[in-house]
Amino acid sequence: MAKAYLREGKEVHRVPVSFRLNGAQVSGFAGESVAAALGALGLTTLRHAPRSGDARGAFCLMGVCQECLCRIDGARREACRTPLRAGMEVETLG
Ligand code: FES
Repeated sequence: MAKAYLREGKEVHRVPVSFRLNGAQVSGFAGESVAAALGALGLTTLRHAPRSGDARGAFCLMGVCQECLCRIDGARREACRTPLRAGMEVETLG
């Protein structure tokens, strides 16, 4: 079990979990947002704009911009508002 410490000195335990990202087994921490987990893995491009083809990724991190949409367990969801849990299936939208 990994540990982290907040600035206030409170100890926080982070529980590592495995999930699938575009078919590959990867890991993150239970309860962090899927967007945070993908960012920690270095994945910032979650899709491409349909007209320009520009890379798009999480921007507002609070459910407003819709730039973080991914297919999560078979449904299109905002990665920034979806807590990570073990066994999730996450697919970027290309
Ligand atoms: S980053 Fe804006 S809705 Fe998720």
